[in-house]
Amino acid sequence: MTITTVRAVVPAADPAFRADVLAGLAAPQRAIPARWFYDAHGSALFERITDLPEYYPTRVERRLLQTHAAAVAAITGHGRAVVEFGSGSSAKTPLLLSAVDPAAYVPIDISGDFLRDSAAALGQRFPGLPVHPVEADFTRAITLPPMIEDAPRLGFFPGSTVGNLIASSAVDLLRAMARTLGDGAMLLIGMDRIKDPAVLIDAYDDAQGVTAAFNLNLLHRINRELEGDIPVDAFRHIVRWNDGIARIEMHLEAMRDLAFTVSGHRFAIAAGETIHTENSHKYGPRDARLLLAAGGWTSVAEWANADDQFVLILAEATPVRSAP
Ligand code: AVI
Repeated sequence: MTITTVRAVVPAADPAFRADVLAGLAAPQRAIPARWFYDAHGSALFERITDLPEYYPTRVERRLLQTHAAAVAAITGHGRAVVEFGSGSSAKTPLLLSAVDPAAYVPIDISGDFLRDSAAALGQRFPGLPVHPVEADFTRAITLPPMIEDAPRLGFFPGSTVGNLIASSAVDLLRAMARTLGDGAMLLIGMDRIKDPAVLIDAYDDAQGVTAAFNLNLLHRINRELEGDIPVDAFRHIVRWNDGIARIEMHLEAMRDLAFTVSGHRFAIAAGETIHTENSHKYGPRDARLLLAAGGWTSVAEWANADDQFVLILAEATPVRSAP
């Protein structure tokens, strides 16, 4: 008789995830970086968020691209290499590619499988377009494929993902993008506007509870990947508008006094205490330009919708100057 032992496949824990969670849970304001939301389940939940009636950014940005991609192309010209940062499913990319008629498309993403699938799909949609996927962390300067060495570059960073970073990290990221893209580069970036807090709260606390599930999935992920026994049902999704620094904050609030273990480390959280899981900064027109300038970019054209909910900004790399 043959006995076969079947073991559940437990994903190998990422040491950086473990380090961030253990340090974050021990901090006075407990906090875990938002990038850890995006395991397979978290990424699927995020795709659902982008379709929610309350989550206007994806819809509005798509409409802005549909309406203004030709105006973007009139400024950038044709034949640039389009470099997309954190390309994910590349859902909005065809709108830009159709208008700017690029020399090549370079999607950059940390998730290799996702990257290859969406690059292949885009290659089919634009036969003849050279597609050179790069699997990398785009928060650092990256060496672009040698095949696009001679083409001028157009960076693409949609979704207001820059808003998930605090100002100093956002500036570091914009500078890294400027270094990656080189002299003469342009950048098309989406940024979410400051607006009525009630609209923002609804966008991050939807009626169907998809954003709550997205937030709580972080605790499930910790339990799965870091041998945790966090009682997920004892936490609830909380959204706050922080008016002083114009950002939405997501937290997970303990609904009773709790004790749990993660990777052999014991934690106690009192009822009402929160784990801060995400910031989503919103920008007025000047805030956006100032952030870009600090990151080495000068706004040359801006397109917002009639309600000024969201803006697409086309910026050019600012030559380094030693005087004002
Ligand atoms: C990815 N990022 C731009 C989203 C945002 O709006 O800040 C993430 C998100 N979190 C909750 N809903 C959407």
